[in-house]
Amino acid sequence: MAKESIKKAVFLKSSSKITQCPAENKPEVAFIGRSNVGKSSLINMLCERKSLAKTSSRPGKTQLINHFEINEHWYLVDLPGYGWAKVSKEKKAAWGEMIEAYLLERNNLVSLFILIDSRLEPQAIDVDFINWAGQQGIPLALVFTKTDKQSKNKSDSKVAKMRKTLKTTWEELPPIFTTSAVTGSGKEALMDYLIEITSL
Ligand code: GTP
Ligand code: MG
Repeated sequence: MAKESIKKAVFLKSSSKITQCPAENKPEVAFIGRSNVGKSSLINMLCERKSLAKTSSRPGKTQLINHFEINEHWYLVDLPGYGWAKVSKEKKAAWGEMIEAYLLERNNLVSLFILIDSRLEPQAIDVDFINWAGQQGIPLALVFTKTDKQSKNKSDSKVAKMRKTLKTTWEELPPIFTTSAVTGSGKEALMDYLIEITSL
């Protein structure tokens, strides 16, 4: 059993820019990753709520910075996905600016969770983003999603490949979690870590 869990989760607001976000008076963690990787689903799994965060099989569902208040003590943020193909150049640039400003300027951000599809070989778009965030000094963790879709061996091998790829640029790898929003696998380890970093 996890030491603690999410007892209360409240949707606060959606913001299109950092100035609209809630006051920086509570520790905050954010979920990012390719569109459709399962960010919103993972938030629902952790909060044990079916549709707290809006999910969709169509990529690009989450387009704003969405704040949830957890246990009246910390914020969980659902960010839009990157790598959404069916979007104009203008929209991509605007999205990039919104996310970059959020990631670089949000003072209460204690950790950025970068979600990765456990079925895929390391993707340049993920590796580049991980390296960029690392270079900016943003504290981060990796979460491999959708492990229910294949055997544990296959997920493990994708994680190992990502480790190997990152080792070429990283001295010490960030914490790595493996999860399934469908079976709840990996929930306890991730939950314990979230509770720990938001109560420091
Ligand atoms: P955007 O908001 O568009 O960036 O996507 P997202 O990363 O928030 O993904 P979302 O949670 O909306 O999930 C995308 C699709 O993947 C949905 O059809 C989910 O049901 C499915 N999905 C998400 N997580 C899992 C998982 O762990 N296992 C399985 N089998 N499907 C999942
Ligand atoms: Mg989403």
